[in-house]
Amino acid sequence: MTYENLLVEVKDRIIFLTINRPKALNALNVQTLTEIRHFFSAGYQDHDDFHGVILTGAGDRAFVAGADIKEFLAVAEDGNGETMAQRGHEIFFLIERFHRPVIALVNGFALGGGCELAMACHLRVATENASFGQPEVNLGIIPGYGGTQRLNQYIGKGKATELILTGDRIDAQEAHRLGLVNYVLPQEEAREKAVELLRVIGSKGPIAIQQSIRAINAYYDGKEGYAAEAAAFGAVTKTEDFREGASAFVEKRIANFRGK
Ligand code: HXC
Repeated sequence: MTYENLLVEVKDRIIFLTINRPKALNALNVQTLTEIRHFFSAGYQDHDDFHGVILTGAGDRAFVAGADIKEFLAVAEDGNGETMAQRGHEIFFLIERFHRPVIALVNGFALGGGCELAMACHLRVATENASFGQPEVNLGIIPGYGGTQRLNQYIGKGKATELILTGDRIDAQEAHRLGLVNYVLPQEEAREKAVELLRVIGSKGPIAIQQSIRAINAYYDGKEGYAAEAAAFGAVTKTEDFREGASAFVEKRIANFRGK
């Protein structure tokens, strides 16, 4: 498969995977998600000759600013929000269960689906300008790519609930304090840190690494939460509030929610 929105660069046994839609702040449209699915399944699943993957966003503003809101309105027309969430879950599970470590190098906005993508990776290294949040409520929807599940896992129920219900953004230092990211560093150093982590991990027994990932994931493997999230996402995408929220974003105005 030829990728339109992903750049793949292999250097010293490390794969740099860059989401390359900088004009849209690397928002995840269907094409990009299809390419991510391909990379983590057909593309590199059977390869063993690399230490791991560093996943980042093109440009210096964003890791990923979320699912592509401009495509969202089509979801409202089709009424297939639950399927959209389920497809995202499957793709993000491929990352979480990948046989080599995947590090998110979070180099700017990691919002909505972008924060969820970073959380599906095994480790997160943030640059100082990175910020994180689940702003879906501003659009009249909820996180749908695992955010209601994984944010709890990293930062606990209380703070996760606050961030999801307020849609507030936090900076990289706060994300570090809460345990959402492993390191916060200036841009070049962040990249070097991610490389160093993969070199250290790459020097260990690959089977031990793979089995560690599998065992860590097993602790969280109950699927009910993800199914509940997908069903809830499906429900909110059927509301007028969702049309209003997504339209307001596209039209660059404040949404007027009416609870319908
Ligand atoms: C589509 C997006 C986008 C997105 C930004 N852009 N985020 N396009 N989807 N998620 C586009 C803008 O429309 C704009 O395009 C360009 O990128 C630059 O963005 P600006 O808004 O002009 O930049 P700025 O004023 O600096 O604000 C940056 C920002 C803001 C704070 C990140 O763009 C923003 O709030 N984005 C949306 C974040 C969000 O709500 N994410 C969650 C999405 S829902 P033009 O053409 O005008 O230049 C989600 C659900 C996942 O992720 C689950 C699904 C199942």
